[in-house]
Amino acid sequence: MNPIDVGDCDLFSYFKNNQADMVFNIAEGKCGKFREAEIPAVLDYLKIPYTGSNTFSLALALNKALTKKILTAENIPTPAFQVFTKGDEELNSDLRFPLIVKPNCEGSAKGINLSSVVNNKESLFSKVKETLVRYRQEVIVEEFIEGKELTVGILENGRVNILPILEIDFSNCAKSGEYFYSWRMKEYQGDAELGLVPTFHCPARLDKEEEVRIKEVALKTHQALGCFDISRTDIRLSKDNIPYVLEINPLPGLNPRESNFPRMAYAAGMKYEDIIDEILMSAYRRNREQS
Ligand SMILES: Nc1ncnc2c1ncn2[C@@H]1O[C@H](COP(=O)(O)OP(=O)(O)OP(=O)(O)O)[C@@H](O)[C@H]1O
Ligand SMILES: [Mg+2]
Repeated sequence: MNPIDVGDCDLFSYFKNNQADMVFNIAEGKCGKFREAEIPAVLDYLKIPYTGSNTFSLALALNKALTKKILTAENIPTPAFQVFTKGDEELNSDLRFPLIVKPNCEGSAKGINLSSVVNNKESLFSKVKETLVRYRQEVIVEEFIEGKELTVGILENGRVNILPILEIDFSNCAKSGEYFYSWRMKEYQGDAELGLVPTFHCPARLDKEEEVRIKEVALKTHQALGCFDISRTDIRLSKDNIPYVLEINPLPGLNPRESNFPRMAYAAGMKYEDIIDEILMSAYRRNREQS
């Protein structure tokens, strides 16, 4: 397979004029709330198969609030939340501080920093307004779950392979003042000067019963969102042992050195090429069965 960087060219003409059997999709799109679904929508129109989730699941998973409504309907635990579109709405009296304020349709922890975790109404509304203006989209406010940070990778290829759970431990990050997966933590990961040095444990430090329960929750999430081939579900295990799903990433980062998905695959004894092969083979198999 020769990877092609189509960059900013006219994608529609590109795909129309270059017969492709299969597109390995890692496109995050350009902008807007449906950006991860843009390229798959063009491919659907041209009837070109692609790896990973379909247009619908990609658009849905980028919307945290809609995803959480589906999780709730499926009895999958997810933090209690409220969506703000104007910034002057009444705060739902059921929500308990601390709360975390996030743009509803971003990724890579964009808009998530230390001041996103708020302990009173004044800082909440100030952060909600700031986020509304800056990101020009609705804002989601969630109960902040203290506990273990976990992420679960799933690879499908005829069978479902749930990879060893990855735990991200922030206990060495005290110097940074940050204690969760903020934008700075992701962007400057490993910078000891800044104190942004999370420790990765894969498999996570969990007992067997917790591991089984968390994998089950990740699989249910993958299925509830209708994901194909690959996904990564972010979870916080609360102090009272409830695995709260924060979100699902149907297009997880696949950087061989820096991304969390390959970390989990390596822990399962896979090589980078194996990850790519599994995704491709799964997509081929699915398309063969459907045609
Ligand atoms: N309700 C919450 N309780 C505790 N921590 C949270 C909560 N929501 C978000 N976080 C922290 O912020 C991080 C980023 O949040 P989230 O996964 O929702 O955003 P994202 O931008 O979609 O992330 P990604 O980089 O995985 O695409 C989480 O991994 C977690 O550390
Ligand atoms: Mg996340």
